[in-house]
Amino acid sequence: MAITVVLLGLTVWAGRRARRRLHYASAVFTLLALTGAIVQAELYGRAYEIPTLRLRVHLGFAFAALASIPWVVLTGLRLRVQPNARPHHRRAVGTFIALIVVAIVTAIWMLIAAVPIAD
Ligand code: HEM
Repeated sequence: MAITVVLLGLTVWAGRRARRRLHYASAVFTLLALTGAIVQAELYGRAYEIPTLRLRVHLGFAFAALASIPWVVLTGLRLRVQPNARPHHRRAVGTFIALIVVAIVTAIWMLIAAVPIAD
């Protein structure tokens, strides 16, 4: 997760500096790292008993963040050929990042109430 956050920061920085090649590469690595973090979290979560309501709230934000990825990619692709599409890409990126932040905060809220499963 920490790697994902660092890569996301690099992607935003490269995007704002118009460093396109770095931006595309870091965007791809951000999404790969995010996938890895989700798989890791799923494996980690299996060892814990998590309150259902907290889990649902967290998953709601996590899936909403995943669902916003195609919007980020499509607006990014459009911005390559249409410079006035910038506000659309910005809005998509802003929504994606806000959802990621809430998903992280709700993950912490969920984990502080998690109980290890005795085996
Ligand atoms: C994690 C995913 C991504 C994030 C967080 C992100 C973020 C950003 C940000 C913050 C900007 C600067 C906007 C501004 O200054 O107004 C930007 C610019 C841009 N992004 Fe993305 N982006 C992502 C993915 C993509 C993808 C997948 C593409 C397309 C293949 C793309 C294409 C572009 C282009 C063409 C620019 C303009 C660069 C320039 O000014 O030359 N982005 N992005």
